[in-house]
Amino acid sequence: MSANIAPADGSLEGVLVASSAIATVDGRAGIALVRGYLLPELAEHCTYEAVAHLVLRGELTRVGDPVRTFADQVREGSVLSPTERATARALAHGNTEADALAAAMILTDDLTARSEPDESLRTARVLGRVASVCAAVAGFDAPDPAWSYARRAAAALGAKRVDPAALRALEVLLCLEAEHGLSASTFACRVAASSGANAGPSLAAAVATLSGERHGGATAQARAMLEAARDSGDPQGFVRQKCEARERLPGFGHRVYKVADPRVVPLRAAMRAMGDAPLLDVVELVAQAAEPLLAPKGIYPNIDLYGAALLTTLDVDPSRYVAAFTLGIACGWLAHWSEVRASGRLVRPDSVYTGPAQRSVV
Ligand SMILES: CC(C)(COP(=O)(O)OP(=O)(O)OC[C@H]1O[C@@H](n2cnc3c(N)ncnc32)[C@H](O)[C@@H]1OP(=O)(O)O)[C@@H](O)C(=O)NCCC(=O)NCCS
Repeated sequence: MSANIAPADGSLEGVLVASSAIATVDGRAGIALVRGYLLPELAEHCTYEAVAHLVLRGELTRVGDPVRTFADQVREGSVLSPTERATARALAHGNTEADALAAAMILTDDLTARSEPDESLRTARVLGRVASVCAAVAGFDAPDPAWSYARRAAAALGAKRVDPAALRALEVLLCLEAEHGLSASTFACRVAASSGANAGPSLAAAVATLSGERHGGATAQARAMLEAARDSGDPQGFVRQKCEARERLPGFGHRVYKVADPRVVPLRAAMRAMGDAPLLDVVELVAQAAEPLLAPKGIYPNIDLYGAALLTTLDVDPSRYVAAFTLGIACGWLAHWSEVRASGRLVRPDSVYTGPAQRSVV
């Protein structure tokens, strides 16, 4: 049974659990590669559709080639029926939007999608329905299928700013979140997929990992901290005090990165291009103050700190931050879902038993 397995803390840190051709993250060098491309470079230069095509189908599209077809495939069938919209909305009654979204994700993979024999068409279709499901859970109008993915995502999040610079900044955030190796949510998706589960329930398993503060929930907490730092009138003093009290700062640290998070660079640039991003100045002050205290431990501002400032600027309610992350990472989850289905083996690790020795009922 477990006799030859080293005791583990359950985090699987450093444990190789799969082979994957989708992405790799070198946390000591600060490098994230998606299908061989640097993730920050992809976010800087590509649309979300192009990145999703790369993540799902392995190649980056160039101007004039199939990205148009792929974007069309993502749009096709993205409209939910009135019953599906009502079902998604009903789940939000008495539940947080994040929890409702987890349950509603099964609606991304409807019977039409499931009957599609071409799996790459199926994943494109499921991806297109993610914004529709997010909008339905939040009670917003269905996003127009003719819009770009980023524009549909903005509508699904209820973003109040949809000018070109704001949409581009949101698109950069979505691209940066599109794929990042075996995060907890991606791993959850892979575990579900390994049982042969359909795409919708596998995405539901992934979203279920996002509500806690250590993963997707960090963005809402980061916003609360940034607002408190701003309202204190002395953001730097505020943060120094928290560090001295050994409190964990939301939006700082990463299980893999022990150097600066490379995803911050293009996001910061896209936010600067928006002209006014009020919390961005607070982010910079907070980051500067924390640096001498946390950098020696390998703790740096992560993408969630900047994402929180961006979503605040777009006036997206924190109850929708899990939806924002979902809209970005959905193509990555789907790529992992396909990859695991192709391998065909059920995930079944072992644990070190710490309970009582065998005993008798009688
Ligand atoms: C992401 C996270 C869970 C990774 O943590 P981890 O790899 O398990 O790190 P550890 O718990 O081993 O912490 C290592 C040290 O760094 C400190 N640390 C980790 N994250 C910290 C943070 N956000 N703020 C302040 N100190 C932090 C720990 O207190 C610990 O210090 P110590 O050695 O003096 O006790 C953690 O950094 C965190 O909780 N961050 C805040 C939430 C967040 O932003 N999540 C989104 C990640 S993209």
